[in-house]
Amino acid sequence: RIAYVNGRYLPHRHASVHVEDRGYQFADGVYEVCEVWNGRLVDQRRHLDRLERSLRELSIAAPMSRAALAGVLEEVVRRNGVRDGLVYLQVTRGVARRDHAFPPAGTRPSVVVTARRSDRRGQEALAAKGVAVITVPENRWPRVDIKSTSLLPNVLAKQQAKEVGAREAWFVDAEGNVTEGASTNAWIVTPQKKIVTRPAESGILRGITRTVVLEVAADLGYAVEERPFTVAEALKAAEAFITAATTVVMPVVRIDGHVVGEGIPGPIATSLRLKFHDFSE
Ligand code: PDD
Repeated sequence: RIAYVNGRYLPHRHASVHVEDRGYQFADGVYEVCEVWNGRLVDQRRHLDRLERSLRELSIAAPMSRAALAGVLEEVVRRNGVRDGLVYLQVTRGVARRDHAFPPAGTRPSVVVTARRSDRRGQEALAAKGVAVITVPENRWPRVDIKSTSLLPNVLAKQQAKEVGAREAWFVDAEGNVTEGASTNAWIVTPQKKIVTRPAESGILRGITRTVVLEVAADLGYAVEERPFTVAEALKAAEAFITAATTVVMPVVRIDGHVVGEGIPGPIATSLRLKFHDFSE
């Protein structure tokens, strides 16, 4: 495997960053995960748009032009021979003597890009069965709209889920509303067959998969309500699912041990999953 690190393509096992990288010391960085499907980077434009926004919000300089970055992503995918998989891109504020405040002007951001194959059959098998989620109290900072590498609450929540055999943890805010998963956006389908997902304006990352799924839903003629929903409403839902570049649309069949709907992937989640790649760029 080959990784890109600050201008060089290196064997994956030798790819490393400096010990004083601010990503390592402060989680002072941002990232993107993009799906590779049939050799194509899915929704690359939107991922680069969101990366630029994350960088701007944190006043991290763009490490290179957008075209150059796109070129690196494609080169890493090519060099790793990835047809179906994921590409990971991380930009940190760079290497500098440890000091919480920003490093001197001119400090170069660090860029790392890796790619790996995914087990498409394993993913399809999982989607055919559906996954379990648990709920945990929301304990993240309010700027979850920035795709930052500061992910400790997400790490702890996901581990908690894993320990009880669940695939995802849904954060629940002080009002009892589900915000999103540790690494996915959260959705339900009401008994009246309305698709519900939280508005992207607060409490969640604006998922690229979420944006595309909204387009797919509109095309399939489904009613969609962008509004918060509670755990109680989710437990009574006909269907539930999660979305992210890593899972596309993944049906949820259990929440905190309670069966959702029929306990099998629902028709709406399944049709959104099937249609997804017709709509993604
Ligand atoms: N996670 N919400 C959170 C907190 C996420 O970390 C992610 C993505 C999403 C979905 O975003 P998108 O549809 O653009 O992938 C929502 C990536 C995949 C990860 O951390 O691995």
